[in-house]
Amino acid sequence: MNARETLKINSLGHLSIGGADATELAKQFGTPLYVMDEQYIRDMCAAYAAAIRTDYDGNGLVLYASKAFSCMAIYKIVQQEGVGVDVVSGGELYTALRAGFPAEKICLHGNNKQPGELALAVENGVGLIAVDSYSELDALDALCAKQGKKQDILLRVNPGVEAHTHRFIQTAKTDSKFGFSVADGTAEKITAYALTKRNVRLQGYHCHIGSQIFEKQSFALAAQKMLAFMAQMRAKLGFTAAALNLGGGYGIWYTDEDAKLAVPDYTEYLRTVIAAVKEHADALSYPRPYLYIEPGRSIVGEAGVTLYTVGAIKDIPGVKKYVAVDGGMFDNPRYALYQAKYTALLANRAAEPASERVTVAGKCCESGDIICADVDLPPVKEGDILAVLSTGAYNYSMASNYNRNAVPPVVLVKDGQAEYIVKPQSYEDIVRNDVIPARLQ
Ligand code: LLP
Repeated sequence: MNARETLKINSLGHLSIGGADATELAKQFGTPLYVMDEQYIRDMCAAYAAAIRTDYDGNGLVLYASKAFSCMAIYKIVQQEGVGVDVVSGGELYTALRAGFPAEKICLHGNNKQPGELALAVENGVGLIAVDSYSELDALDALCAKQGKKQDILLRVNPGVEAHTHRFIQTAKTDSKFGFSVADGTAEKITAYALTKRNVRLQGYHCHIGSQIFEKQSFALAAQKMLAFMAQMRAKLGFTAAALNLGGGYGIWYTDEDAKLAVPDYTEYLRTVIAAVKEHADALSYPRPYLYIEPGRSIVGEAGVTLYTVGAIKDIPGVKKYVAVDGGMFDNPRYALYQAKYTALLANRAAEPASERVTVAGKCCESGDIICADVDLPPVKEGDILAVLSTGAYNYSMASNYNRNAVPPVVLVKDGQAEYIVKPQSYEDIVRNDVIPARLQ
């Protein structure tokens, strides 16, 4: 499954997304506009859930990593597909709860959770908290004691597998703000300490080795290392973990280069994880743990397309051609942050062959404000609708009001019909929290 299934070229030669003509969406809702295909998101959730059912006897739960795309509607959609969620801040947790998401299917993450975030989680009865520091463990235990609750927790562990898009390495030295290292013994120490706490229940462990990873074997290696560590804890501390959360990170399609590296069906990443968990648990005579996985990008990434209107075009002879659009790093900061690559096309002339190489720039007052560098398009004209594909993950969720630009609205498309799931911001919204102190009046 991938985005090329949700995107089509219709009889008018226009790009269509989830059955809706992109040029019509641009007319109806204006640009810049985030468009999300509901069916794609549902299908991905259902496919992961089915893999856990068939390959792991249903002994696990998919947690959608909502940092990839968070708004109230997405929590409804994933809930309806029987999926839980991972949240990583009070804001994401609040959004999920406001959407009516069942607290027991929420896992709270974060390397520096604030007292208010822990309180919100415990008061509302979130299913799991992935603890990532001694002070958090102490604070959580005290909070639960005060509230007369016993909270299920995982410990975030660093298994010593560092994965980056195209490769992975095994490391003994772990330089990360996340997790307790297996290699240096801190994961063991926190386990022993957590077992002394009376108001939390240690269910097991969590690890997440990176994001946009294509190499299936890196996930299998993480599973192997986690199970080896769990067996050690059983031998040394007499602790048998009931649950294992192996995080997310499954690599998706942004460009044709990625297509060569990504598995054709993203459930294959999960099937690899499951096979490794089964193999190593069985080899160690360890009871197969309840398994959580946390895909974010692969659930929503390819469901999303951003539509822009082309404005100023600047051809610098012998250098490059800049095509400026009405969005920019305020709706998609991923080029500025990671030199991320995207596929772009003209939604209003989607069938025309590409004939020139351009750089798509935004409207922010900053030279690094690029949406995608070096993309091939048909001859671009002012007024064309430019579509950037695979923008469903880490675009809206990382948007800002830089230069006091409004964050674009998000529409959800289903069977050709679109409606807002995030309304447009007005200038009034932008100044809503501004205050002019009396002495400045
Ligand atoms: N679980 C944990 C604990 C995570 O930290 C993450 C992502 C995920 C799950 C989901 O990973 P995914 O399946 O989406 O790869 N802003 C970056 C991505 C940061 C990912 C952070 N953690 C980007 O735009 O590429």
